[in-house]
Amino acid sequence: MANKMWGGRFSDGPDALMEEINASIDFDKRLHAQDITASKAHARMLAETGIVSREDVEKILEGLDEIASEISSGKFTFSRALEDIHMNVEARLAEIIGDAAGRLHTARSRNDQVATDFRLYIRDACDHVRDQITALMRAFAVQAERHAEVIMPGFTHLQTAQPVTFGHHMLAYVEMLARDRSRFEDARRRLNESPLGAAALAGTSFPVDRHMTAEMLGFDAPMRNSLDAVSDRDFVLEVLAAAAICTVHLSRFAEELVIWSSAQFDFVRLPDRFTTGSSIMPQKRNPDAAELARAKSGRVIGALVTLLVVMKGLPLAYSKDMQEDKEPAFEALDTLSLVLEVMRGMVEALEPVEEKLRAAAAHGFSTATDLADWLVRALDMPFRQAHHVTGALVAKAEERGVDLADLLLEEMQAVEPRITEDVYSVLTVENSVRSRTSYGGTAPDNVRRMARWWLEQLG
Ligand code: ARG
Repeated sequence: MANKMWGGRFSDGPDALMEEINASIDFDKRLHAQDITASKAHARMLAETGIVSREDVEKILEGLDEIASEISSGKFTFSRALEDIHMNVEARLAEIIGDAAGRLHTARSRNDQVATDFRLYIRDACDHVRDQITALMRAFAVQAERHAEVIMPGFTHLQTAQPVTFGHHMLAYVEMLARDRSRFEDARRRLNESPLGAAALAGTSFPVDRHMTAEMLGFDAPMRNSLDAVSDRDFVLEVLAAAAICTVHLSRFAEELVIWSSAQFDFVRLPDRFTTGSSIMPQKRNPDAAELARAKSGRVIGALVTLLVVMKGLPLAYSKDMQEDKEPAFEALDTLSLVLEVMRGMVEALEPVEEKLRAAAAHGFSTATDLADWLVRALDMPFRQAHHVTGALVAKAEERGVDLADLLLEEMQAVEPRITEDVYSVLTVENSVRSRTSYGGTAPDNVRRMARWWLEQLG
């Protein structure tokens, strides 16, 4: 049988395979709430502008409400033969209210309809993700304040570089997440324009009021160009890019958790709730949640790439290719949401192993830079020369198998006679971090102040 919605010039129904490739209802039913909200706004505008009688619009609105409750109570039967959410809703509307249902699609096309629905959906998703990111930032900031004094090794190339504080490390993620959050807010601001009324591609000859529908749907304005309104998906791309960057950040912390919780490092204890045991090795405590958080960034990055490829080279205006925007976006946003939640759970319960961190921080000549800086300050030595002298002292310590602080004064003076007892004050990790008071530096006072500032910002 020919399709009820567009079957006017078709004598035959679609091939079963055609239905399989063409129908989007299995996934776009997730847009049901947005579809009904947008249809109600459109219907109200049709009444206000006199395009459709108030009487018919009343019936349409009541019918749409009924469909909304059928869907939320699970009574609605979605049909693949009706392709997508838009036609499923409209067909059911016709069953409920009869002929008046046919007037809802006046001055509208599925092209502006789906663009509108999806913008509404992505807008909600941005708000949700923003709140989740905020919660995770708070968890990091709480840890930062709590452990502002805890000393750990700071790494470059995963080689011990200089001592830092655990709190400082936590705050680095607060900063990354703050940028992630602002990327979502920024994308949301840009996407908040209404495609509704662009119709199929050219606009409509009916006297629609696009400003009215835009306002009813909480958009800032109607989109200025009807071709652009139905053919662009950069609003999804931007959000997926923000999501991909955010998951990259999360994957880096996930990786650190995997490393830190290993027996070799033993820097942190992960909460039991987020680890698993091994069925054969009783000693194991595997950081599965962190590993999965690390891995799931692949899906989100994949979704961004998928949609970039779908959109690349598409001529204006709408093409069915664009139906492929939804599954990657749903998957990416669901994944990001899950990972943010899991991360928050792990961060909240994370316990640094202070003695291990402190001991590791003192290893690997982590205060060598402090020693060089002391030579510059106390002996007015040019930094390059100080670097050289320090190198010689590190070599000596290495040769003896001790740390810099364990070298005898005479041993140091053999390399540089002007070195005094005072040098030992900069060789401890405590003094090292305490001295890093430059703005944004790792000194515990800085970290505490910054953590409090963030906690205040985050409310
Ligand atoms: N299900 C379609 C989509 O998601 C709706 C738009 C269909 N438009 C069309 N001209 N066939 O893109």
